[in-house]
Amino acid sequence: MRNGLQRLLFLLALAWVLVLHARPLTRLESGPVPAPLPARQMQIAHWLRDDCGACHGLTLKGGLGLPLTREALAGKPAQSLVQTVLQGRPGTAMPPWAPFLSEREAQWLIEQLQAGTPPAVSPDSPAVPASSSTTP
Ligand code: HEC
Repeated sequence: MRNGLQRLLFLLALAWVLVLHARPLTRLESGPVPAPLPARQMQIAHWLRDDCGACHGLTLKGGLGLPLTREALAGKPAQSLVQTVLQGRPGTAMPPWAPFLSEREAQWLIEQLQAGTPPAVSPDSPAVPASSSTTP
């Protein structure tokens, strides 16, 4: 009898763990997320230029990584792009950014990229020219 109870408890615990892990990794909110605080935006802008830019190109038009311009991201589901940013793409050079970016921040960043307004480091040294795709 006691064994049976233990087994039941074990199975319940196992089921609970499975349920927890079965949840989608990101639970995206619908609609625009609140922008990070300015200092945090600056940090993200630095990453975008120095880290993402190293692979995706300084003007985000692509390099080792795919272009991250508004045109290139048009029509791609934001949720899967956010997943790519947070989890990386196994088997490719795209690393996971979850240790550095929250879900909301990743979602905000993708929103900005898809809108063609990537966060810039400062007005003097933009990470990306305002109209990167239309300048010659
Ligand atoms: C070490 C190189 C590298 C770095 C650094 C990097 N990426 Fe990537 N990224 C890639 C590669 C390569 C791919 C394409 C993966 C594939 O082939 O599917 C990619 C894909 C993506 C995609 C999916 C694009 C699409 O059209 O499906 C997004 C979004 C993205 N990266 C965003 C970022 C962001 C944001 C950062 C910085 C926080 C970043 N990446 C940093 C290499 C990198």
